[in-house]
This record gives sequence, structure tokens and C-alpha cells, in this order.
Amino acid sequence: MIENNQDRRVITPDKKRDESEIELSLRPKSLDEYIGQEKLKEKMKIFIDAAKMREESLDHVLLYGPPGLGKTTLSSIIANEMGVSIRITSGPAIERPGDLAAILTNLQENDVLFIDEIHRLSRSVEEVLYPSMEDYALDIIIGKGPSARTVRLDLPRFTLIGATTRAGLLTSPLRDRFGVICKLDLYEVKNLKKIVLRSADILGVPIDDGSASLIAVRSRGTPRIVNRLLKRVRDYAQVMGDGSINEDTVAKAMTLLEVDPLGLDGVDRKILKTIIVKFDGGPVGLDTLAASTGEERNTIEDVYEPYLLQLGFINRTPRGRVVTSRGYRHLGMEKKGEEEITIWDLEEGR
Ligand code: ADE
Repeated sequence: MIENNQDRRVITPDKKRDESEIELSLRPKSLDEYIGQEKLKEKMKIFIDAAKMREESLDHVLLYGPPGLGKTTLSSIIANEMGVSIRITSGPAIERPGDLAAILTNLQENDVLFIDEIHRLSRSVEEVLYPSMEDYALDIIIGKGPSARTVRLDLPRFTLIGATTRAGLLTSPLRDRFGVICKLDLYEVKNLKKIVLRSADILGVPIDDGSASLIAVRSRGTPRIVNRLLKRVRDYAQVMGDGSINEDTVAKAMTLLEVDPLGLDGVDRKILKTIIVKFDGGPVGLDTLAASTGEERNTIEDVYEPYLLQLGFINRTPRGRVVTSRGYRHLGMEKKGEEEITIWDLEEGR
């Protein structure tokens, strides 16, 4: 099978094909075990406790944020904490209204239904979802033509957890039906480091504090990447060393994987360089940038941009993306001084 660009990148936040099993073993099972996203955890704890005290299903939850931050993990934890089962599916997997009807009618009272990439549901499926979210009912049309009639089928009360990379991609009637809307942010390095230490412990691989930090800063704020890099460094340590991870092993493994000291790869650098060289540092619109770099607009927006923004290497302005002085410096280049531009603008009488 031909791999796409995202499959080849060791720092892609997308799930790789062979990763699910190990990732499963590293996943936290309770909110207490879950590292980071403190505000979100605090809110969810209260909502879960309240629903449990009332013996009701939890309100529908929408989780949005960049890929790899643990939206599925969090949903499994929510189901665990509620003491109910979870059914996991995704927008593109539910092709017809009948597919959704089959899933909904098989849920038990208070169960969690997790729909990943919920922005990719078709309109006809969305139409079925509305009454099921609001009234826990399914409207089925029986027969055709003038004799057709609608039968309303009662559903168990359930919790829908929808996940998307961007809430803005959702239709507003769908977004409005979620009682809880939570954004997941890229992780801070200190929390990524805690995840490295926790995962290394589960995997039984010795690692020191400094090495954990080195892996954490290269992980683009993303737990899925932190765990992947840890596994690749573990491979390196096993084959080239004594199996334990030290700073030297991390540095060498990262050089081999072509991951730079901040976790940037060739595509990130291409985006920065394109804005600088072809558009004089910007501003440049997203579509133009996508066409110039040969990357997809959505991939730039969901995967590359959030991390470049977090690093302060680019800025979003109303007229497009701009590379900052820090972005220039990371590539060993110098941005035209602000003063220089001001004087020039004055001379031009602008
Ligand atoms: N593994 C992946 N994400 C995690 C998280 N947020 N906390 C603990 N372990 C994790």
C-alpha cells in the first residue's frame, strides 16, 4: 500500500496503521490518570458527578482541537467514569441514515456514543441525529409515496460525544445540540514530560529526567507524538545501546529520524521558507500557501499551523499568515527590522 506524506512523518499527529495496540496500553483509564487539560478535566468531573448523582445520562459533549491530543482517550475515560459502555465510530463510517439507526437502537441506557470526525457526517445522517440527540427518538419513514408514514421509535437516553479538529466545520444546528463544548489545547512541555515518564514506566524502559524533557520538547504539544518518539528512541536504545534511554541516545535517534530540536520537520520548514522567500514573510492567504507548498489546506490548518503558532513562529492576521522574527531566526534568517520599514514607509509618504 502506498503511504501518504502523513504516514511517513514520525511526527504526524495522525494515527499510524500499526499503532493502535500499544497506544491502547499507554492510554489512561481515569481522569486522575489523565495528564494535562486541567480546566477541561475540572469541568468534566463536575458534570459527570452531577449526572451520576441524578442517575441521568451525561449531556452531549463536543470535543474539538488538533489531532493526537486524546479526544478518543478522553471519551473512553468519560464512559469509564460514568460506569457505562462506549461505542466508537466516525463520521465517514456512518454512510447512510440506516447505519446510524442501527447503532442508536443497539445502545443501552446512558451509554456513550463516540463519533470521531463528526464534521464529516452526511446531511441525511445529521438529520436523523438531531431528534435522537434532542428527544431520544428516531423517526422512521415506512412505505413510499402517498401511503408513506412516519413512525417514532424511542431510543435509550445516551450521551453523544462528538470529536472534530475544528468546531467551525460543524453545522450550527448540530453544534447547538451539544450541552458541553470543550476545546483541547496543545500540551505544555511539562505535561508532555510527565506523559513520557508515565509511558516509559508502563513500557518498562529506564529513562532519566533530561531525556524525557528532550523527547517532550520535540513532540509538537501532542501526546500521540510523544509516545511515538519514545517508542522509536526505545528501539534505538535497544539496538545501539544497553536498552536504557539517556540524552545521548535521544539526540542520536532524533538525528536519525530528522526531527529538529523543536520537533519541526521538512514540511514545517517548507511552510516557513515559502512564506519568507515567495511572499516576503507574508501576509499570505491559506489557499495560496497550500498551492505554493503542495500541502493540503486542511492539513496546514489542522496539523502544522497550530504548532507553528504555539511556537510563535507565525502569526495569523486578517490578511493572511505572517512569519515572525522568531520564525526567521529558527531558520537562521533575519527579518527586515520594523524600524527600517517605518522609515521607508515615511519616505514614500505612506
Ligand atoms: N497518554 C496519552 N495521553 C495521555 C494523557 N493525557 N495523560 C496520560 N497519558 C497519556
